[in-house]
Amino acid sequence: MAKQIQKEIQRGVESWISLGNRRPHLSIILVGDNPASHTYVRNKIRAASAVGICSELILKPKNVSQEELLDITDQLNMDPRVSGILVQLPLPDHVDERTVCNEITPEKDVDGFHIINIGRLCLDQHSLIPATASAVWEIIKRTGIETFGKNVVVAGRSKNVGMPIAMLLHTDGQHERPGGDATVTIAHRYTPKEQLKIHTHLADVLVVAAGIPKLITSDMVKEGAAVIDVGINYFQDPVTGKTRLVGDVDFEAVKKKASFITPVPGGVGPMTVAMLLKNTLLAAKKIIY
Ligand code: GUN
Repeated sequence: MAKQIQKEIQRGVESWISLGNRRPHLSIILVGDNPASHTYVRNKIRAASAVGICSELILKPKNVSQEELLDITDQLNMDPRVSGILVQLPLPDHVDERTVCNEITPEKDVDGFHIINIGRLCLDQHSLIPATASAVWEIIKRTGIETFGKNVVVAGRSKNVGMPIAMLLHTDGQHERPGGDATVTIAHRYTPKEQLKIHTHLADVLVVAAGIPKLITSDMVKEGAAVIDVGINYFQDPVTGKTRLVGDVDFEAVKKKASFITPVPGGVGPMTVAMLLKNTLLAAKKIIY
């Protein structure tokens, strides 16, 4: 599905350029030496290039000042060559992430983290939507998984992932930005495990974005449910000592019960990158603003 969307974006980019427009350009600011962040950014740059989107990487040391980051963002905001701006998170503790996210002009905010994009998302208005939430939405809709009147559980309430996913799935299908019309339950770190199980047993669609390996076991899942694993956990194998990527779902056991299930790695991750590129094309074409 991610490859299919990338092809659609590539075609969209080429037809946009063939009309005499500038090639879409994504500027990425990466602070410090967090290995996971460097991997994510490398993947984004590679995927952008594959669909014909130019990108530039602005690398800064972890002691960069907030003021300098805001200055860089201001420059990019004003630069007509730049269609999309992304500041890779997390940022060092001395930098306020909210201040930085709000400095990016909403029209170029391809992460959808600016307070205006979040506010519009919450009001069911058109906006640039956070890529992970868009990825979950596209997986559900393109697979043909029903959400209208269905029970959805979202495990995880982070502002960048769980909250926007829940927002898309519970809202009205007839509004400006259509929602999924589902009954959505949001669970989080203080939901007792036995309560979580009561909720997940009712779920037709279970979206897990908690950051807890094997949080969801087979006994918690309803037969035929669709399970979407948004977890990204680095797990060190006690035998081999090697680090590998695991999700939040006990994949091997749960896949026997689920109608659909996304793997980690290879499921929501590549879809998220594809949706970021889609946002970059939307920003270049000024479709939202
Ligand atoms: N860090 C982890 N995921 C993301 C993301 O989607 N966007 C940004 N900017 N940083 C991240």
